[in-house]
Amino acid sequence: MAATSKRGAFGSRLGFILAAAGSAIGLGNIWRFPYTAGQHGGAAFILVYLICVVVICLPVLFAELAIGRASQMSPVGAFARLAPRSPWPLVGALGVITGFAILAFYAVVAGWTLGYLGRALVGRFAGAMTHDQSVAAFDAISGAPVVSIALTALFLTLTALVVRSGVQGGIEMASKILMPVFFVLLVGLAVRSMTLPGASEGLRFLFHVDLSKITLSVVVGALGQAFFSLSLGMGAMITYGSYLSHDERLPGAAFSVAAADTAIALLAGLIIFPALFAAGGDPSGGPGLVFVVLPSIFHQLPLGGVFAAAFYALLAIAALTSTISLLEVVVSYFVDEKGWSRERTTWLVTFACFLLAVPSALWGSFLDWQSVIFGNYALTIGALLICLFVGWKWGVGSALAEIARGGAPLPLGRVWGLIVRFLAPLAIIVILAGVVGLIPGVEF
Ligand code: PFF
Repeated sequence: MAATSKRGAFGSRLGFILAAAGSAIGLGNIWRFPYTAGQHGGAAFILVYLICVVVICLPVLFAELAIGRASQMSPVGAFARLAPRSPWPLVGALGVITGFAILAFYAVVAGWTLGYLGRALVGRFAGAMTHDQSVAAFDAISGAPVVSIALTALFLTLTALVVRSGVQGGIEMASKILMPVFFVLLVGLAVRSMTLPGASEGLRFLFHVDLSKITLSVVVGALGQAFFSLSLGMGAMITYGSYLSHDERLPGAAFSVAAADTAIALLAGLIIFPALFAAGGDPSGGPGLVFVVLPSIFHQLPLGGVFAAAFYALLAIAALTSTISLLEVVVSYFVDEKGWSRERTTWLVTFACFLLAVPSALWGSFLDWQSVIFGNYALTIGALLICLFVGWKWGVGSALAEIARGGAPLPLGRVWGLIVRFLAPLAIIVILAGVVGLIPGVEF
Protein backbone atom coordinates (compact mmCIF):
# COMPACT_ATOMS: atom_id res chain seq x y z
CA MET A 1 0.00 0.00 0.00
CA ALA A 2 2.79 2.38 0.95
CA ALA A 3 4.44 1.90 -2.43
CA THR A 4 1.15 2.57 -4.18
CA SER A 5 0.51 5.83 -2.46
CA LYS A 6 4.05 7.08 -3.06
CA ARG A 7 3.77 6.38 -6.80
CA GLY A 8 0.34 7.91 -7.01
CA ALA A 9 -2.90 6.06 -7.62
CA PHE A 10 -6.33 6.63 -9.02
CA GLY A 11 -8.76 8.15 -6.58
CA SER A 12 -11.68 5.97 -7.56
CA ARG A 13 -12.82 3.19 -9.85
CA LEU A 14 -14.64 5.68 -12.03
CA GLY A 15 -11.48 7.75 -12.20
CA PHE A 16 -9.58 4.73 -13.47
CA ILE A 17 -12.24 3.84 -16.04
CA LEU A 18 -12.30 7.36 -17.38
CA ALA A 19 -8.54 7.66 -17.49
CA ALA A 20 -8.14 4.29 -19.25
CA ALA A 21 -10.96 5.20 -21.63
CA GLY A 22 -9.26 8.56 -22.08
CA SER A 23 -6.08 6.77 -23.12
CA ALA A 24 -7.95 4.47 -25.47
CA ILE A 25 -10.21 7.09 -27.01
CA GLY A 26 -8.30 9.57 -29.07
CA LEU A 27 -7.07 10.28 -32.56
CA GLY A 28 -6.96 6.52 -33.07
CA ASN A 29 -10.75 6.50 -33.09
CA ILE A 30 -11.51 9.73 -34.88
CA TRP A 31 -8.55 10.11 -37.24
CA ARG A 32 -6.86 6.72 -37.73
CA PHE A 33 -9.86 4.38 -37.69
CA PRO A 34 -11.85 6.09 -40.47
CA TYR A 35 -8.93 6.57 -42.83
CA THR A 36 -7.59 3.04 -42.28
CA ALA A 37 -11.08 1.61 -42.79
CA GLY A 38 -11.42 3.78 -45.90
CA GLN A 39 -8.15 2.49 -47.33
CA HIS A 40 -9.13 -1.11 -46.65
CA GLY A 41 -12.55 -1.21 -48.25
CA GLY A 42 -14.85 -0.19 -45.38
CA ALA A 43 -17.23 -2.89 -44.17
CA ALA A 44 -14.85 -5.85 -44.59
CA PHE A 45 -12.25 -4.03 -42.51
CA ILE A 46 -14.79 -3.13 -39.85
CA LEU A 47 -15.98 -6.71 -39.52
CA VAL A 48 -12.42 -7.98 -39.05
CA TYR A 49 -11.74 -5.12 -36.67
CA LEU A 50 -14.68 -6.05 -34.44
CA ILE A 51 -13.63 -9.70 -34.39
CA CYS A 52 -10.08 -8.69 -33.43
CA VAL A 53 -11.35 -6.49 -30.59
CA VAL A 54 -13.48 -9.22 -29.04
CA VAL A 55 -11.33 -12.28 -29.65
CA ILE A 56 -7.79 -10.93 -29.29
CA CYS A 57 -7.65 -7.41 -27.90
CA LEU A 58 -10.06 -7.70 -25.00
CA PRO A 59 -8.14 -10.70 -23.63
CA VAL A 60 -4.87 -8.76 -24.02
CA LEU A 61 -6.43 -5.85 -22.14
CA PHE A 62 -7.12 -8.12 -19.18
CA ALA A 63 -3.60 -9.50 -19.39
CA GLU A 64 -2.05 -6.03 -19.28
CA LEU A 65 -4.25 -4.78 -16.44
CA ALA A 66 -3.50 -7.92 -14.42
CA ILE A 67 0.26 -7.53 -14.91
CA GLY A 68 0.09 -3.89 -13.88
CA ARG A 69 -2.06 -4.37 -10.85
CA ALA A 70 -0.21 -7.44 -9.61
CA SER A 71 3.17 -5.75 -9.85
CA GLN A 72 2.16 -2.16 -9.03
CA MET A 73 4.99 -1.16 -11.35
CA SER A 74 5.41 0.43 -14.76
CA PRO A 75 6.17 -2.02 -17.60
CA VAL A 76 9.90 -2.75 -17.22
CA GLY A 77 9.69 -3.14 -13.45
CA ALA A 78 6.44 -5.07 -13.76
CA PHE A 79 8.04 -7.85 -15.78
CA ALA A 80 11.09 -7.82 -13.51
CA ARG A 81 8.93 -8.22 -10.42
CA LEU A 82 6.76 -11.02 -11.82
CA ALA A 83 9.68 -12.84 -13.48
CA PRO A 84 12.89 -11.96 -11.62
CA ARG A 85 16.23 -12.61 -13.30
CA SER A 86 14.73 -13.22 -16.73
CA PRO A 87 14.87 -11.39 -20.06
CA TRP A 88 11.15 -10.51 -19.86
CA PRO A 89 11.73 -6.88 -18.78
CA LEU A 90 12.89 -6.35 -22.38
CA VAL A 91 9.23 -6.56 -23.37
CA GLY A 92 8.63 -3.59 -21.09
CA ALA A 93 11.59 -1.81 -22.68
CA LEU A 94 10.13 -2.41 -26.15
CA GLY A 95 6.94 -0.81 -24.86
CA VAL A 96 8.77 2.25 -23.60
CA ILE A 97 10.48 2.74 -26.97
CA THR A 98 7.22 2.14 -28.85
CA GLY A 99 5.37 4.65 -26.67
CA PHE A 100 8.03 7.23 -27.34
CA ALA A 101 7.91 6.64 -31.10
CA ILE A 102 4.09 6.70 -31.24
CA LEU A 103 4.00 9.92 -29.26
CA ALA A 104 6.37 11.47 -31.80
CA PHE A 105 3.91 11.14 -34.73
CA TYR A 106 0.74 11.34 -32.69
CA ALA A 107 1.71 14.76 -31.36
CA VAL A 108 2.01 16.04 -34.93
CA VAL A 109 -1.55 15.05 -35.78
CA ALA A 110 -2.71 16.35 -32.41
CA GLY A 111 -1.02 19.63 -33.35
CA TRP A 112 -3.20 19.78 -36.49
CA THR A 113 -6.29 19.58 -34.27
CA LEU A 114 -5.03 22.66 -32.44
CA GLY A 115 -4.58 24.38 -35.80
CA TYR A 116 -8.17 23.54 -36.69
CA LEU A 117 -9.33 24.72 -33.28
CA GLY A 118 -7.62 28.06 -33.89
CA ARG A 119 -9.37 28.37 -37.26
CA ALA A 120 -12.72 27.45 -35.76
CA LEU A 121 -12.29 30.08 -33.07
CA VAL A 122 -11.79 32.80 -35.67
CA GLY A 123 -14.95 31.66 -37.43
CA ARG A 124 -13.48 29.90 -40.46
CA PHE A 125 -15.98 27.04 -40.35
CA ALA A 126 -19.13 29.10 -40.02
CA GLY A 127 -19.76 29.37 -43.76
CA ALA A 128 -19.98 26.84 -46.58
CA MET A 129 -16.72 25.28 -47.76
CA THR A 130 -16.11 23.43 -51.00
CA HIS A 131 -14.06 20.25 -51.05
CA ASP A 132 -11.14 22.10 -52.67
CA GLN A 133 -11.21 24.82 -50.05
CA SER A 134 -11.19 22.19 -47.37
CA VAL A 135 -8.17 20.47 -48.91
CA ALA A 136 -6.39 23.82 -49.15
CA ALA A 137 -7.15 24.52 -45.49
CA PHE A 138 -5.66 21.16 -44.50
CA ASP A 139 -2.53 21.80 -46.57
CA ALA A 140 -2.14 25.23 -45.02
CA ILE A 141 -1.67 23.58 -41.63
CA SER A 142 -0.14 20.19 -42.29
CA GLY A 143 1.98 21.31 -45.24
CA ALA A 144 3.49 24.39 -43.62
CA PRO A 145 6.65 23.30 -41.78
CA VAL A 146 6.83 26.14 -39.27
CA VAL A 147 3.14 25.94 -38.37
CA SER A 148 3.20 22.18 -38.08
CA ILE A 149 6.34 22.11 -35.92
CA ALA A 150 5.09 24.91 -33.68
CA LEU A 151 1.74 23.18 -33.14
CA THR A 152 3.51 19.90 -32.35
CA ALA A 153 5.67 21.67 -29.77
CA LEU A 154 2.59 23.29 -28.27
CA PHE A 155 0.79 19.99 -27.97
CA LEU A 156 3.76 18.23 -26.42
CA THR A 157 4.07 21.06 -23.90
CA LEU A 158 0.42 20.68 -22.90
CA THR A 159 0.97 16.95 -22.44
CA ALA A 160 4.05 17.53 -20.31
CA LEU A 161 2.20 19.99 -18.10
CA VAL A 162 -0.33 17.32 -17.17
CA VAL A 163 2.10 14.42 -16.77
CA ARG A 164 4.37 16.55 -14.61
CA SER A 165 1.65 16.91 -12.00
CA GLY A 166 1.16 13.17 -11.54
CA VAL A 167 -1.58 10.63 -11.82
CA GLN A 168 -4.48 11.94 -9.88
CA GLY A 169 -4.16 15.68 -10.20
CA GLY A 170 -3.59 15.60 -13.92
CA ILE A 171 -4.78 12.51 -15.69
CA GLU A 172 -7.89 11.72 -13.74
CA MET A 173 -9.24 15.24 -13.64
CA ALA A 174 -8.87 15.87 -17.36
CA SER A 175 -10.71 12.65 -18.20
CA LYS A 176 -13.58 12.88 -15.79
CA ILE A 177 -15.22 16.02 -17.00
CA LEU A 178 -14.53 16.17 -20.68
CA MET A 179 -15.01 12.69 -22.10
CA PRO A 180 -18.81 12.61 -21.60
CA VAL A 181 -19.19 15.99 -23.29
CA PHE A 182 -17.19 14.75 -26.25
CA PHE A 183 -19.49 11.76 -26.64
CA VAL A 184 -22.61 13.94 -26.81
CA LEU A 185 -21.04 16.12 -29.49
CA LEU A 186 -20.08 13.08 -31.57
CA VAL A 187 -23.62 11.75 -31.48
CA GLY A 188 -24.87 15.13 -32.69
CA LEU A 189 -22.43 15.10 -35.60
CA ALA A 190 -23.31 11.53 -36.56
CA VAL A 191 -27.01 12.34 -36.67
CA ARG A 192 -26.35 15.32 -38.93
CA SER A 193 -24.05 13.37 -41.21
CA MET A 194 -26.42 10.42 -41.58
CA THR A 195 -29.32 12.66 -42.53
CA LEU A 196 -27.47 14.47 -45.33
CA PRO A 197 -28.79 13.79 -48.84
CA GLY A 198 -26.76 10.97 -50.38
CA ALA A 199 -25.59 9.68 -47.00
CA SER A 200 -26.95 6.17 -47.52
CA GLU A 201 -24.07 5.24 -49.79
CA GLY A 202 -21.71 5.94 -46.92
CA LEU A 203 -23.70 3.63 -44.67
CA ARG A 204 -23.51 0.95 -47.34
CA PHE A 205 -19.76 1.38 -47.49
CA LEU A 206 -19.61 0.92 -43.72
CA PHE A 207 -21.93 -2.02 -43.28
CA HIS A 208 -22.32 -3.95 -46.51
CA VAL A 209 -19.67 -6.63 -46.10
CA ASP A 210 -18.06 -8.19 -49.16
CA LEU A 211 -16.13 -11.14 -47.77
CA SER A 212 -13.91 -11.35 -50.83
CA LYS A 213 -12.38 -8.04 -49.77
CA ILE A 214 -10.79 -9.61 -46.69
CA THR A 215 -7.11 -9.91 -47.58
CA LEU A 216 -4.10 -10.32 -45.35
CA SER A 217 -3.41 -6.62 -45.54
CA VAL A 218 -6.95 -5.93 -44.28
CA VAL A 219 -6.40 -8.32 -41.37
CA VAL A 220 -3.01 -6.86 -40.36
CA GLY A 221 -4.39 -3.36 -40.64
CA ALA A 222 -7.45 -4.19 -38.55
CA LEU A 223 -5.51 -6.05 -35.86
CA GLY A 224 -2.91 -3.29 -35.58
CA GLN A 225 -5.61 -0.64 -35.48
CA ALA A 226 -7.48 -2.52 -32.74
CA PHE A 227 -4.35 -2.67 -30.57
CA PHE A 228 -3.61 0.97 -31.28
CA SER A 229 -7.12 2.08 -30.49
CA LEU A 230 -7.23 0.23 -27.17
CA SER A 231 -3.73 1.43 -26.21
CA LEU A 232 -2.47 -2.15 -26.06
CA GLY A 233 0.84 -3.80 -26.77
CA MET A 234 3.16 -1.23 -25.25
CA GLY A 235 2.35 -1.24 -21.57
CA ALA A 236 0.08 1.80 -21.28
CA MET A 237 -2.57 -0.41 -19.71
CA ILE A 238 0.07 -2.12 -17.56
CA THR A 239 0.99 1.30 -16.24
CA TYR A 240 -2.62 2.33 -15.64
CA GLY A 241 -3.36 -1.06 -14.06
CA SER A 242 -0.49 -0.40 -11.68
CA TYR A 243 -2.24 2.68 -10.37
CA LEU A 244 -5.39 0.70 -9.62
CA SER A 245 -5.88 -0.58 -6.11
CA HIS A 246 -6.22 -4.30 -5.40
CA ASP A 247 -9.73 -4.11 -4.09
CA GLU A 248 -11.31 -2.65 -7.23
CA ARG A 249 -13.37 -4.92 -9.46
CA LEU A 250 -11.44 -5.21 -12.70
CA PRO A 251 -13.50 -7.07 -15.34
CA GLY A 252 -16.40 -4.63 -15.56
CA ALA A 253 -14.02 -1.69 -15.76
CA ALA A 254 -12.10 -3.26 -18.63
CA PHE A 255 -15.28 -4.17 -20.53
CA SER A 256 -16.56 -0.62 -20.25
CA VAL A 257 -13.30 0.78 -21.59
CA ALA A 258 -13.29 -1.55 -24.61
CA ALA A 259 -16.99 -0.95 -25.31
CA ALA A 260 -16.67 2.83 -25.11
CA ASP A 261 -13.62 2.82 -27.36
CA THR A 262 -15.28 0.66 -30.00
CA ALA A 263 -18.50 2.66 -29.89
CA ILE A 264 -16.59 5.89 -30.49
CA ALA A 265 -14.64 4.45 -33.43
CA LEU A 266 -17.88 3.30 -35.06
CA LEU A 267 -19.44 6.66 -34.33
CA ALA A 268 -16.52 8.33 -36.09
CA GLY A 269 -17.22 6.09 -39.08
CA LEU A 270 -20.87 7.14 -38.98
CA ILE A 271 -19.80 10.76 -39.06
CA ILE A 272 -17.14 10.56 -41.76
CA PHE A 273 -18.45 8.19 -44.43
CA PRO A 274 -22.03 9.43 -44.93
CA ALA A 275 -20.69 12.98 -45.19
CA LEU A 276 -17.86 11.88 -47.47
CA PHE A 277 -20.13 10.07 -49.90
CA ALA A 278 -22.72 12.85 -49.72
CA ALA A 279 -19.97 15.20 -50.92
CA GLY A 280 -18.68 12.70 -53.50
CA GLY A 281 -15.25 12.20 -51.92
CA ASP A 282 -12.76 9.32 -52.08
CA PRO A 283 -12.68 7.02 -49.02
CA SER A 284 -9.07 5.99 -49.52
CA GLY A 285 -7.81 9.54 -49.14
CA GLY A 286 -5.36 8.69 -46.32
CA PRO A 287 -4.39 10.61 -43.18
CA GLY A 288 -6.00 13.86 -44.28
CA LEU A 289 -9.44 12.24 -44.60
CA VAL A 290 -11.07 13.35 -41.37
CA PHE A 291 -9.59 16.81 -41.50
CA VAL A 292 -10.87 17.36 -45.01
CA VAL A 293 -14.34 15.86 -44.55
CA LEU A 294 -15.44 17.38 -41.27
CA PRO A 295 -15.58 21.03 -42.34
CA SER A 296 -18.19 20.07 -44.93
CA ILE A 297 -20.58 19.03 -42.15
CA PHE A 298 -20.14 21.87 -39.71
CA HIS A 299 -21.67 24.59 -41.82
CA GLN A 300 -24.78 22.47 -42.27
CA LEU A 301 -25.43 22.48 -38.55
CA PRO A 302 -27.17 25.19 -36.59
CA LEU A 303 -24.49 27.37 -35.01
CA GLY A 304 -21.96 25.47 -37.13
CA GLY A 305 -19.06 27.73 -36.21
CA VAL A 306 -19.61 27.25 -32.49
CA PHE A 307 -20.10 23.54 -32.99
CA ALA A 308 -16.83 23.33 -34.92
CA ALA A 309 -14.90 25.13 -32.18
CA ALA A 310 -16.35 22.86 -29.50
CA PHE A 311 -15.63 19.78 -31.59
CA TYR A 312 -11.96 20.58 -32.23
CA ALA A 313 -11.45 21.60 -28.60
CA LEU A 314 -12.80 18.24 -27.47
CA LEU A 315 -10.87 16.32 -30.12
CA ALA A 316 -7.70 18.01 -28.88
CA ILE A 317 -8.59 17.02 -25.33
CA ALA A 318 -9.31 13.42 -26.38
CA ALA A 319 -5.90 13.40 -28.04
CA LEU A 320 -4.39 14.89 -24.90
CA THR A 321 -5.71 12.13 -22.63
CA SER A 322 -4.02 9.68 -25.04
CA THR A 323 -0.68 11.52 -25.33
CA ILE A 324 -0.66 11.74 -21.54
CA SER A 325 -0.72 7.95 -21.32
CA LEU A 326 1.99 7.61 -23.96
CA LEU A 327 4.28 10.04 -22.17
CA GLU A 328 3.40 8.53 -18.80
CA VAL A 329 4.74 5.12 -19.89
CA VAL A 330 8.11 6.62 -20.76
CA VAL A 331 8.31 8.96 -17.77
CA SER A 332 7.24 6.35 -15.23
CA TYR A 333 10.03 4.10 -16.48
CA PHE A 334 12.70 6.63 -15.52
CA VAL A 335 10.93 7.60 -12.30
CA ASP A 336 10.35 4.02 -11.12
CA GLU A 337 13.50 2.36 -12.39
CA LYS A 338 16.11 5.10 -12.31
CA GLY A 339 14.77 7.19 -9.44
CA TRP A 340 14.75 10.38 -11.53
CA SER A 341 12.47 13.21 -10.49
CA ARG A 342 9.12 13.33 -12.27
CA GLU A 343 9.45 16.97 -13.17
CA ARG A 344 12.89 16.78 -14.74
CA THR A 345 12.17 13.50 -16.55
CA THR A 346 8.95 14.84 -18.03
CA TRP A 347 10.68 17.81 -19.66
CA LEU A 348 13.68 15.81 -20.85
CA VAL A 349 11.56 13.10 -22.48
CA THR A 350 9.24 15.69 -23.99
CA PHE A 351 12.12 17.53 -25.58
CA ALA A 352 13.64 14.34 -26.97
CA CYS A 353 10.25 13.37 -28.36
CA PHE A 354 9.90 16.74 -30.02
CA LEU A 355 13.16 16.14 -31.88
CA LEU A 356 11.85 12.82 -33.19
CA ALA A 357 8.55 14.48 -34.13
CA VAL A 358 10.17 17.04 -36.44
CA PRO A 359 10.59 14.69 -39.44
CA SER A 360 6.94 13.64 -39.16
CA ALA A 361 5.88 17.27 -39.02
CA LEU A 362 7.86 17.92 -42.20
CA TRP A 363 7.08 14.85 -44.28
CA GLY A 364 3.73 13.07 -44.37
CA SER A 365 5.40 9.93 -45.67
CA PHE A 366 7.60 9.74 -42.57
CA LEU A 367 4.51 10.09 -40.40
CA ASP A 368 2.79 7.27 -42.29
CA TRP A 369 5.82 5.08 -42.00
CA GLN A 370 6.10 5.61 -38.25
CA SER A 371 2.40 4.99 -37.83
CA VAL A 372 2.67 1.62 -39.57
CA ILE A 373 5.95 0.46 -38.00
CA PHE A 374 5.15 1.46 -34.43
CA GLY A 375 1.38 1.85 -34.47
CA ASN A 376 0.82 -1.51 -36.18
CA TYR A 377 3.80 -3.81 -35.99
CA ALA A 378 5.51 -2.87 -32.72
CA LEU A 379 2.18 -2.99 -30.87
CA THR A 380 1.23 -6.31 -32.44
CA ILE A 381 4.60 -7.85 -31.50
CA GLY A 382 4.35 -6.35 -28.02
CA ALA A 383 0.89 -7.85 -27.54
CA LEU A 384 2.14 -11.24 -28.72
CA LEU A 385 4.94 -11.16 -26.14
CA ILE A 386 2.52 -10.08 -23.41
CA CYS A 387 0.27 -13.06 -24.19
CA LEU A 388 3.24 -15.41 -24.14
CA PHE A 389 4.36 -13.95 -20.83
CA VAL A 390 1.01 -14.35 -19.11
CA GLY A 391 0.22 -17.69 -20.75
CA TRP A 392 3.55 -19.42 -20.35
CA LYS A 393 5.71 -17.62 -17.80
CA TRP A 394 3.72 -15.80 -15.13
CA GLY A 395 0.79 -18.17 -15.51
CA VAL A 396 -2.90 -17.97 -16.34
CA GLY A 397 -3.76 -19.04 -12.79
CA SER A 398 -1.80 -16.17 -11.20
CA ALA A 399 -3.33 -13.67 -13.60
CA LEU A 400 -6.87 -14.91 -12.96
CA ALA A 401 -6.25 -14.78 -9.21
CA GLU A 402 -5.06 -11.18 -9.53
CA ILE A 403 -8.10 -10.20 -11.60
CA ALA A 404 -10.43 -11.87 -9.07
CA ARG A 405 -8.83 -10.06 -6.13
CA GLY A 406 -11.22 -7.14 -6.23
CA GLY A 407 -14.11 -9.55 -5.66
CA ALA A 408 -15.18 -10.02 -9.29
CA PRO A 409 -13.59 -12.99 -11.08
CA LEU A 410 -13.21 -12.87 -14.85
CA PRO A 411 -16.24 -14.43 -16.56
CA LEU A 412 -15.17 -17.28 -18.86
CA GLY A 413 -11.76 -17.34 -17.20
CA ARG A 414 -10.91 -20.72 -18.70
CA VAL A 415 -11.68 -19.55 -22.21
CA TRP A 416 -9.56 -16.49 -21.54
CA GLY A 417 -6.68 -18.74 -20.50
CA LEU A 418 -6.93 -20.70 -23.75
CA ILE A 419 -7.00 -17.52 -25.80
CA VAL A 420 -3.97 -16.04 -24.06
CA ARG A 421 -1.98 -19.27 -24.23
CA PHE A 422 -2.90 -20.52 -27.69
CA LEU A 423 -5.36 -18.65 -29.84
CA ALA A 424 -4.09 -15.08 -29.63
CA PRO A 425 -0.37 -15.92 -30.01
CA LEU A 426 -1.06 -18.31 -32.87
CA ALA A 427 -3.33 -15.88 -34.67
CA ILE A 428 -0.78 -13.09 -34.33
CA ILE A 429 2.10 -15.30 -35.45
CA VAL A 430 0.17 -16.54 -38.49
CA ILE A 431 -0.75 -12.98 -39.46
CA LEU A 432 2.80 -11.67 -39.03
CA ALA A 433 4.28 -14.67 -40.81
CA GLY A 434 1.92 -14.04 -43.70
CA VAL A 435 3.17 -10.47 -43.89
CA VAL A 436 6.83 -11.40 -44.04
CA GLY A 437 6.02 -13.98 -46.67
CA LEU A 438 6.77 -17.10 -44.62
CA ILE A 439 3.47 -18.67 -45.52
CA PRO A 440 3.60 -19.67 -49.18
CA GLY A 441 0.71 -18.46 -51.22
CA VAL A 442 -0.30 -15.76 -48.76
CA GLU A 443 0.45 -12.37 -50.11
CA PHE A 444 0.53 -9.05 -48.37
N1 PFF B 1 -5.37 4.60 -28.09
C1 PFF B 1 -4.96 5.89 -28.52
C2 PFF B 1 -5.91 6.36 -29.60
O1 PFF B 1 -6.72 5.56 -30.09
O2 PFF B 1 -5.85 7.50 -29.98
C3 PFF B 1 -3.52 5.91 -28.98
C4 PFF B 1 -2.60 5.22 -28.05
C5 PFF B 1 -2.45 5.68 -26.74
C6 PFF B 1 -1.93 4.08 -28.46
C7 PFF B 1 -1.65 4.98 -25.86
C8 PFF B 1 -1.12 3.38 -27.58
C9 PFF B 1 -1.00 3.85 -26.29
F1 PFF B 1 -0.26 3.20 -25.46
